[in-house]
Amino acid sequence: MATKTILALTPGHPGQLEKLEKDFTILRLWKEREAEAAIAEQANNIVAITTYLAPVREVLMDALPNLEIIAVGAVGYDHIDLEAAAKRRITVTNTPDVLTDDTADLGVTLMLTLLRRVVEGDAFIRAGLWTQKGFPLGRSPREKTLGIVGMGAIGQAFAKRAEAFGMHVIYHGPNIKDVPYVYYDDLAEMAVKSDVLALTCPGGAATRHLIDYNILGHLGANGYLVNIARGSVVKQDDLLVALSNRIIAGAALDVYENEPNVPDAFFVMDNVVLSPHIGSATLETRRVMGELVVANILACLNGEKVPSALKI
Ligand code: GLV
Repeated sequence: MATKTILALTPGHPGQLEKLEKDFTILRLWKEREAEAAIAEQANNIVAITTYLAPVREVLMDALPNLEIIAVGAVGYDHIDLEAAAKRRITVTNTPDVLTDDTADLGVTLMLTLLRRVVEGDAFIRAGLWTQKGFPLGRSPREKTLGIVGMGAIGQAFAKRAEAFGMHVIYHGPNIKDVPYVYYDDLAEMAVKSDVLALTCPGGAATRHLIDYNILGHLGANGYLVNIARGSVVKQDDLLVALSNRIIAGAALDVYENEPNVPDAFFVMDNVVLSPHIGSATLETRRVMGELVVANILACLNGEKVPSALKI
């Protein structure tokens, strides 16, 4: 009998594919010259897909008649066609909770790096400018207002950390949460009140381009944007215009509209901090994320309770 095959769209987290390799054939798609042909050859054997941020669309599900699970190695799943999966009774899993702390840590790191001009300071020293002139002052987080868009697990972890830096937290989202922060139903109104607007909401149709020129205008010339959510939440062209015209003071971005492509225009802006989508990217957390992917696949294929199956 042919071994069951796992179609890996992306390399996976540390140890993830090695563990699965004990029981399954792994089709590492990024290594195939002819991806479509490789899938067609294995189509009947493929019972699971693993992916990080590579999309899984209906056409791929159609090509795999025995597919049982799409195991996403990320908390976000806006890149998966959930409707198509539900129609075919395919289980979809993600990796919630295990990455909350690291992702919130990165959000706060980016925020402070931006406010305290750390990246600018680094460039200043490397350019030999310290011996010639003084370095401009940054901004303190204390007594500033942090407006969080998306008060889920990551938003709440971000809020807790921000409180330790003396910030006042307010939030916006589709629902009022059981948290000790003031809720704003109106995002524009919250942006006016915010010194820092931090995005921690899911991606997808409901939040696409939530942050546009209008919202950035409400954030204002002393306001900063931090995005650790999804690039799709921000209308990137509007952000570029707002930054270059100092409509807002600055932005710290971990995510972009068309990753891994980042517009060159950002590279010449001294009021921008950029990181390459690394919210959960620590060895410790990625190992645990990989273990959860494996646990989800094994449970699903063995007919057991799947640890982090989405309700679709
Ligand atoms: C990363 O972006 C994730 O969704 O885990």
